[in-house]
Parts: sequence; structure tokens; C-alpha cells
Amino acid sequence: MEVVHRKDLVKYHVRNWQNQKKTIGFVPTMGALHEGHLSLVRRARAECDVVVVSIFVNPLQFNQAADLEKYPRNLEADCRMLEAEQADLIFAPDADAFYERIPAISMEFGPLTSVLEGEMRPGHFSGVAVVVSRLFHIVEPAKAYFGSKDLQQVAVVKRLIQDLDFNLQLVACPTARNEDGLALSSRNARLSPAGLKTASQLNKGLSLAMAEFDIQNPDASQMAAKRFLEKFSDIELEYLEWVDADTMEPVLPGIPVSNPAICLAARVEGVRLIDNMVLENHGNGC
Ligand code: PAF
Repeated sequence: MEVVHRKDLVKYHVRNWQNQKKTIGFVPTMGALHEGHLSLVRRARAECDVVVVSIFVNPLQFNQAADLEKYPRNLEADCRMLEAEQADLIFAPDADAFYERIPAISMEFGPLTSVLEGEMRPGHFSGVAVVVSRLFHIVEPAKAYFGSKDLQQVAVVKRLIQDLDFNLQLVACPTARNEDGLALSSRNARLSPAGLKTASQLNKGLSLAMAEFDIQNPDASQMAAKRFLEKFSDIELEYLEWVDADTMEPVLPGIPVSNPAICLAARVEGVRLIDNMVLENHGNGC
């Protein structure tokens, strides 16, 4: 496994692999790796000839300087984990080298980003789309692996791939959870043991909404989950909503939607967490 910090070195390897007709699997990350990331790397390892992982805390997608500053970073530990998973190449650029100058471009996705994370974190998805586009140009993967915990990000990147005609397949992988059901996130490292226990209630709230979902009255299950979570004084709920997983449009009473998703964002001990669950192929008899 090689760790490189410059994009021309990544491109050099990409050219060689292309000459050898090898398929490139790509896992973009911001580091502070956990089992969720590693499951993406394993999937890429199983499906592609070579695996490239990027580790880059992208300043463009943080709308609060404090959040960017507090984002956990541990390149050495990350590289050890990736070595064990037999990744081939780690691309870990410095922000200054990655963006020779701050990009002037911004990317809008209309209704896809006017709700949930897009509403709460203005500019976030533009920053994600810019960095992901640049990374796709550098790595030229056949397949790129994303975790479904960031459901809206998956929808945005799918749209980005379609709209800019990137020649690659997005592979959305299931959310990895700990034994209490808490979605794995690099941000969990900032929670105390008690905070981790409290945060695992988020998953219970989502499960409750899933169990009680009724297309004739989606609000009822949403309210039941909110009432459940409001019992925990350490959870500050930001949003909890049913949306269509593909379009992010709200699920309306009686209007069929194939993949309704219940999504939430909440703060526990000041740490902002997101999670979701999808009722796949709802009403298709699958
Ligand atoms: O999901 C993430 O970790 C980031 O948003 C991504 C895709 C690596 C872009 O910075």
C-alpha cells in the first residue's frame, strides 16, 4: 500500500492501472476511519482490481469553522487500518495542495438539497459535490463506494454523476451500526460512554417510526418517534422527517412512494449526528 499526498502521483498510478485494464474502486473519506468505512473498502476490494481511498477533510463542506476544526484526524491510525484491508493507494492531500486556489464554483441541486442537511447546512452539498467531482477526475474510478448513513449525500452524488455524465457507478452500502444500533460515525469519537448510550436511542426512534409507518398518515409515525426521543433530555432533535429516499421530497399522506426514508439529525453532548432508515420497495410486494 502506498500513501501519496500529491494528485499527480495518483494520476500516475491511475494511468498504469488503466494500461493494465484494471478496474479502480474508490472510497472517498474524511479519515477518522471506523468499521463503516472499512466495510466500504472491503466491498471495493471484493469487486474491483485496485482500491483507492482518499482521506481529506474538505473545508468546502463545513459551514461552521468550529466543526471543521474539531473534526477528528488520525492519518497514522487510518493508514494502519487500510493496510490491513489491503487498500492499494491512499490519497491524503493537504488542503492547500488539493485546492491550489479556493474554487469559485458552487453547485445547486434544487429540491434535492433544499431540505434536511441541505437546509440546516447551507453550502454543504455544494462543497461535497465540488470535492467529489475533483476526486472523480483524479482517481477515475469504475465504482465509487458511499455509506447510506449519508442518504442525502448518496442522492446528491447520484445526481451529480448523471448530470455531469461521470463514467462510473455509485455503490451505496448499508449503514454500519454498533451493538446498540448506533450508526457508526467519525463524530462518535467525541461522545462520552454515557453520550454513546444516549445516542443509541436515535436508532430506536427511527425503528419506531418504521414499525408504525402508514402511507395514509406518515405524520403519525413521525410524531410517535419524536415523542419517544423527546423523553431524553440529552437529545436535541433538529429534524425527524419522512422523505422519498431518491428525491428527498416529503412523503405525503396517501401518495405512493417506493423508498420512504425516515431521516433525523440531533445533537448529543453538542455533537451533531445524523441517521436514517429506508423502507425499501414499499408497497411493491417485495
Ligand atoms: O462522506 C464523507 O465522508 C464526505 O462527505 C466525502 C464524500 C468524503 C466528501 O468529502
